[in-house]
Amino acid sequence: MPYHFSLSLSLSLLLFTCFPSNSLSNQFCKTEIGIGEVGCGIISSSSTTKLLIKGGTVVNAHHQEFADVYVEDGIIVAVEPNLRNVIYTCYPLVALGYLVGDDVKVIDATGKYVMPGGIDPHTHLAMEALNTETVDDFFSGQAAALAGGTTMHIDFVIPVNGSLTAGLEVYEEKAKKSCMDYGFHMVITKFDDIVSRDMEIMVKERGINSFKFFLAYKGVLMVNDELLLEGLKRCKSLGALAMVHAENGDAVFEGQKRMIQLGITGPEGHALSRPPLLEGEATARAIRLAAFVNTPLYVVHVMSIDAMEEIARARKSDYFPKCVALFSSPLPSLTFIKAPRNLSFGTVNRVVKCTSTTRFYSRHIGQRVIGEPVVSGLVLDDSRLWDSDFTTASKYVMSPPIRASGHGKALQGALSNGVLQLVGTDHCVFNSTQKAFGIDDFRKIPNGVNGIEERMHLVWDTMVESGQISVTDYVRVTSTECAKIFNIYPRKGAIIAGSDADIIILNPHSSFEINARSHHSRTDTNVYEGRRGKGKVEVTIAGGRVVWENNELKVVPGSGKYIKMAPFNYLFSGIDRADASYLSSLNAPVNRFKSTT
Ligand code: URP
Ligand code: ZN
Ligand code: ZN
Repeated sequence: MPYHFSLSLSLSLLLFTCFPSNSLSNQFCKTEIGIGEVGCGIISSSSTTKLLIKGGTVVNAHHQEFADVYVEDGIIVAVEPNLRNVIYTCYPLVALGYLVGDDVKVIDATGKYVMPGGIDPHTHLAMEALNTETVDDFFSGQAAALAGGTTMHIDFVIPVNGSLTAGLEVYEEKAKKSCMDYGFHMVITKFDDIVSRDMEIMVKERGINSFKFFLAYKGVLMVNDELLLEGLKRCKSLGALAMVHAENGDAVFEGQKRMIQLGITGPEGHALSRPPLLEGEATARAIRLAAFVNTPLYVVHVMSIDAMEEIARARKSDYFPKCVALFSSPLPSLTFIKAPRNLSFGTVNRVVKCTSTTRFYSRHIGQRVIGEPVVSGLVLDDSRLWDSDFTTASKYVMSPPIRASGHGKALQGALSNGVLQLVGTDHCVFNSTQKAFGIDDFRKIPNGVNGIEERMHLVWDTMVESGQISVTDYVRVTSTECAKIFNIYPRKGAIIAGSDADIIILNPHSSFEINARSHHSRTDTNVYEGRRGKGKVEVTIAGGRVVWENNELKVVPGSGKYIKMAPFNYLFSGIDRADASYLSSLNAPVNRFKSTT
């Protein structure tokens, strides 16, 4: 017998039936989708680690409380105050008995926050671009992530010659060395019957529930409006989320030519060739096309006020006007008195006809648009692109560009007031020799900056320490919202019994410092070089294993799991009803008698 009962438990046993906690069924193991390939959070037989995190403040997106957290076999088993080393679960009450086991690692979290591990919705590991490849692969990039408190990321599969299946095969191979959990988005570069069928396979069989359309990178990844429309329609029918890189690629191309003609060939030419208005234009266009199709939209790396304001407008807007009963409550946005009648559709030139017993109601629902700022856009400005040293300036080249001072602060405000919902990184790193491919022509500088290791610290310092968001909001924007959008909540993004044990312990009294000498990414530069701030991730637990503690990484290649993500996230709820209302509002076709004379 590995356990010894305490006296108090013996008394409890007289009254209740008790089971060891590992006999609990996992509520997230009921459906096939959403479960990693290994299955139900069980990583491997050697990982029967038992952890007890004691004395911390457990923070979820909706609530924070003083509680201990008990973990077994990669799963959170209990979150309760005053847990002792091993928990027995007793019915009808939970976690009544306490046992002392000698194989439980106890972690003291007194005075610290115990939070869900970060989920980075936007990374590019081992991605090929401009005849080279990012220096961080699925091992080094993930190791860096874990050192910074991120325990899952979602990477973008690039198709091979337009083929989704070939692209996925390549990325499955790349991801074999993973040391933390990951998922995939799929990029769409062309559209035909094969791509359409493969999108269905991706969603129904391969666990991919989002597709990204690049409106920039002309001649490489860019799609035109026709393709975007086809893609939006297909996404909608599959319940998959459409994502856009929103810059006007044709205009960027023109801007680049203009810079070269002006003799501006350095990294500053990158920013000057693709100003915020081109990001605003493409964001507005994508938003309107998504409204036209009536499907949710996710705008990746929102870098400018221009783009953010388009998102704000759309989220407030009324693309689905309706008629409500006359004399209904004066609080329209909260009341749904009668089923909508005589609806119309679209944004402009719209006619909404209400009957004599109903009245028009102009603002009751916003468009389903998600805006993702990235940490570089939140905390940096473009001044370093003008640095006289090419190596320094070129490391800041990414697209859309890091903007002039003022944009970042506005994005922070939008994150705190809910216009933007979650923070990514767009981690996509090239070392200085690779960046030097563009020494004579900024168009040849591989695009991308680091952030996978720094995101959790920088968001804490910039947003929480400054008082712009609460600790619970921090969990929401770094983890929970991502899990909800990509339909893996509450398996991920929560510290509750049954969730995967992806946990961080953050000490708000400790501090961090960032530099290329000590970071864990393979890149030789860091765009946050020299930054210091308050709040340090002291412990990272991934899949129930302590992988970061005492500034040491203990990661195992191959231990990360692929997380399948199911379609039809919460953004899709009600879309079918809006479509039905639209159809019933058309008053068309009109039956006309054809004159015989
Ligand atoms: O510069 C960037 N953002 N590189 C990665 C590719 C992309 O556009 O997301
Ligand atoms: Zn992009
Ligand atoms: Zn990206």
